[in-house]
Amino acid sequence: MSPIDALLQIMTLEEKLGQLNMATGDHAVTGPGLADDLTEGVRAGRIGSILNLWGAEKIAALQKIAVKESRLGIPLLVGFDVLHGQRTIFPIPLGEAAAFDSSLWERTARAAAVEAAQDGIALTFAPMLDIARDPRWGRIAESAGEDPYVASRFAEAKVQGFQAASLADAGSVAATAKHFCAYGAAFAGLDYGPVDMSERLLHEVYLPPFAAAIGAGCAAIMPSYNELCGVPMTIHAPLLQGFLRERHGFDGVIVSDYRAIPELLEHGVAADLAEAAALALVAGVDIDMVGKAYLESLPVALARGLVTIEAIDAAVRRVLRLKDRLGLFEDPGRRGSVRTEAVAEVEARKALAREAARRSIVLLTNDNVIPLASDLRRIALVGPLADAPAEMRGPWYAAGDPAGPIGIREGLAAALPGCEIACARGVGISDGDTSGIAAALEACAGADLVVLALGEAAAMSGEAACRADPGLPGRQEDLARAVLDLGKPVVALISSGRPLTIPLIVERASAVVATWFLGAEAGHAIAEVLTGRFAPVGRLPVTWPRHVGQVPIFYAARPSGRPADSDNQYSSKYLDMPTEPQFWFGHGLSYTRFTLSSPRAGATVIRPGESIPVMVDVTNAGPRAGEETVFLFARDVVASVARPVRELVGFSRIALSPGETGTVTFSLDAASLCCLGPDLEPRLEPGDFVLFVGQSADPARLLAIPLRAIAG
Ligand code: GLC
Repeated sequence: MSPIDALLQIMTLEEKLGQLNMATGDHAVTGPGLADDLTEGVRAGRIGSILNLWGAEKIAALQKIAVKESRLGIPLLVGFDVLHGQRTIFPIPLGEAAAFDSSLWERTARAAAVEAAQDGIALTFAPMLDIARDPRWGRIAESAGEDPYVASRFAEAKVQGFQAASLADAGSVAATAKHFCAYGAAFAGLDYGPVDMSERLLHEVYLPPFAAAIGAGCAAIMPSYNELCGVPMTIHAPLLQGFLRERHGFDGVIVSDYRAIPELLEHGVAADLAEAAALALVAGVDIDMVGKAYLESLPVALARGLVTIEAIDAAVRRVLRLKDRLGLFEDPGRRGSVRTEAVAEVEARKALAREAARRSIVLLTNDNVIPLASDLRRIALVGPLADAPAEMRGPWYAAGDPAGPIGIREGLAAALPGCEIACARGVGISDGDTSGIAAALEACAGADLVVLALGEAAAMSGEAACRADPGLPGRQEDLARAVLDLGKPVVALISSGRPLTIPLIVERASAVVATWFLGAEAGHAIAEVLTGRFAPVGRLPVTWPRHVGQVPIFYAARPSGRPADSDNQYSSKYLDMPTEPQFWFGHGLSYTRFTLSSPRAGATVIRPGESIPVMVDVTNAGPRAGEETVFLFARDVVASVARPVRELVGFSRIALSPGETGTVTFSLDAASLCCLGPDLEPRLEPGDFVLFVGQSADPARLLAIPLRAIAG
């Protein structure tokens, strides 16, 4: 008999339910309700895991109670939302996704895991893998954007980074793929809102990143708050049991979202907590996060015959197995190092934060006003984000010190010691006060150039932070208009957790830069890009809308029978606005100019199971060295169901010196050309395909390569 089964045999029902009960500490507030009295609950064996508490000493003290003072001495599992860093804060995931760099994604997860483990954490509620195509939804900030291929590569990199070679390593934490699933498709972009979509869309777009996370070995999965076609994900047995466990072999732990089990009563699918607890357990949820429904109501459900003790034991077994895989039984104190770290290790993570920040920056437009001229005497730095270090952490900033990040002012001043920087807020981020605009204009008076630092507060994206109008908040447009009316060169920096609809800025500023929320080294990274010490490489992981009326807007749309045609009244278009986005998925400028040529494939025909090389030459036709990201899309021209006009099947980056030409080579698997048949099973349908290579999803700039698939 395994040690876990032996343990199960001697556990009381309350001790079993204790292992399924996750309670919250008070170091962070991530949902409604009050923190629990952890000490008593842990000692009594009623709490098997906790979240929102960290720090080596604190965790060690609680772990000691669990191991030395509870009857069975089962160690605690400590979880936390280490989404983009623990103490060293990296760019928000939507920003980091813009780097299109799996190695970077893995390295920042690894660094975050090391710091989290030092603080006694063994499980992170990350990566967040929700496909997000609606910037009104605040949690787009936590996502890898709109594309399932990108989110799948992001999933693999993050799981590998968090979990590394072994979950038992002192520097590893268990990854939780979340929120399963389709959470980002809520009606009207409202968080926690209902979702209704076809099975086909679900399987084509929203499920693949979770399959990728399972393939990468993620240890846990968190169902989302939303219901899907009337069934709350917390009790969605066909997807939790059928898709995750049976189809993809997921044998890890399923942890509910915060109080999601009691909230089943709000969904109207359970008459009381006993029913709610039974539905969730039967569907496959192992841990009840903060809901206390398992602890307090499963005994009632058991008595009513709504659940079996076998189902409870199966859940407890999975939880104990995760603790064992984490090495918690062997060495409960393995995480939570009180030792002071070598300065070099701390500095290395800071350097990584700076690398991640600079590579996440996306240059949207540039009238050659940046990189900044080296002989600038006076710059005006104006706007509510000009000197706002704490905001640079973005949402879900974990244990990141509010005084920690380098703000834009500090970064610019450090990079331009010989240049006078006149700084003025002008307006607040979201208030209605415009009295500061006059002083801001004065600051601009003698300046050679104005840097306009605009955007959102960190708390305006993330959970429960949806915006019906994703434009510039408050009176920032008034400030922008007044500054632009001065007629000086203006570089607009947009710090945000989502694409913002900023047509005025795009039209009138000399340059526009998406700086997301870049974390600890934000100011230094922004200064490196503005001064040209680092040429921007970021590319948009989301389509950037002109107007919220276009939303949801994304590049991989299925074609209309009457495609948009400005010369044809009867075509799919708006009367009052172009259908094209402000910027396409994948858009991003550098400080040089790249051209693509000679697109070609290693074969004209592909069969199931085969892979073929696809190449394109890239030339740096401009004056400076740079890195170009090239995207490979595919379209199935005629299939049994309508297919998107293009779907991403690869991305790759190449660094080139001025005048240099290189070749980017993709390996195209036949599997990535499959579509889902009427049975939703993948199949390669014979017939014509078109491959596209390009610098973004902009159809006007893609190079086509014909390819034919044959049955075999
Ligand atoms: C929150 C979020 C989830 C997070 C959890 C614990 O409500 O939905 O992403 O991991 O609660 O903080």
